[in-house]
Amino acid sequence: MRAVTYDRYGSADELRLSEIDQPAPGPGEVLVRVAACAVNSWDWHLLTGTFFERLMFGTFRPRHRVLGSEISGAVEAVGDGVDEFQIGDEIYGDLSTSGWGGFAEYAVGRADSMVRKPPEISFEHAAALPQTGSLAMRCLRERWPLQTEHRVLLNGAGGAAGTLALQVAKHFGAHVTCIDRGSKHQLLESLGADEVIDYQREDYSRRGEQYDLIIDVANHRSFSDVRRALAPDGVYVMTGGPPLQIVRFGLLLPVANRLDQRSYVIQTFQLNREDLTWLTDRITAGEITPAVERTYPLEGTAEALRHFDSGEVKGKLVIRI
Ligand SMILES: NC(=O)c1ccc[n+]([C@@H]2O[C@H](COP(=O)([O-])OP(=O)(O)OC[C@H]3O[C@@H](n4cnc5c(N)ncnc54)[C@H](OP(=O)(O)O)[C@@H]3O)[C@@H](O)[C@H]2O)c1
Repeated sequence: MRAVTYDRYGSADELRLSEIDQPAPGPGEVLVRVAACAVNSWDWHLLTGTFFERLMFGTFRPRHRVLGSEISGAVEAVGDGVDEFQIGDEIYGDLSTSGWGGFAEYAVGRADSMVRKPPEISFEHAAALPQTGSLAMRCLRERWPLQTEHRVLLNGAGGAAGTLALQVAKHFGAHVTCIDRGSKHQLLESLGADEVIDYQREDYSRRGEQYDLIIDVANHRSFSDVRRALAPDGVYVMTGGPPLQIVRFGLLLPVANRLDQRSYVIQTFQLNREDLTWLTDRITAGEITPAVERTYPLEGTAEALRHFDSGEVKGKLVIRI
């Protein structure tokens, strides 16, 4: 089968279109004929070999030759013990618990990391959901359900998780302020942002505004900056940013959460079928649309990763196989 492979850490120039053996599903797994695979920041970190990725997935050489974890497609075969899915079922899901492999014609994933795809939803939109949608919903659920009087701040709003979180927060009528670079503001306003801030020009923590929920995917501010921008009973959810900053914040959390009524949380991705079903119901109803900026063919995967690195991606990039 055709797959995009890499054998050493580096830039998108390391990616090659190759012929490799088709994988076979083990117990509890499904073989998926991949229709679409979204690019996400984890792919970029695994390609370039950042500190944590080398620690977990190969110090000198990448352990997994094929990247891509957010997929959609049709079940081609099922492994022992899988009775939830049958051959031909259209599904979407996450491959990060089964060794990646989505930038390929076929991929193997754990059946419990897959969700049935409603026929009304395109493969491109479904591939934009597994990690991104679960993560966005997990962050929003720290202040759930949102209400019209809630003021939400999304730092890093123009990326994959932010554009979904924005639409969900607006679905509940919350007031949403979005931070990202200026080139993404038009998209954010079209998705319902009430206010937009350019992080290259303005520091949100010094505007004199306070928010009930801050979701921070960029995390470049100090703890006192964050606290200043948080309402007296507000919730700050950090879900990304520079590794050292995450560690520093993690060490501060036990003390920070005892200071007053404000709360501080670090959230990581965990596939949540209930949340994904809630999201697909909204998408089917036309209330939410995953922001897919562009699709590429499999042989355009390196070009997609280069574009991802440019910082100009609005929402999500998807590889159509
Ligand atoms: N396993 C996990 O727990 C897991 C899984 C998936 C994602 N994540 C994390 O979740 C976060 C969100 O993922 P995502 O897929 O939405 O990422 P994304 O698509 O890369 O979006 C991140 C956005 O933040 C913007 N940004 C960068 N620096 C900023 C700054 N200083 N201030 C404000 N905005 C800034 C980026 O804009 P530019 O284009 O200007 O850089 C981009 O629009 C990521 O940090 C990722 O590492 C965690």
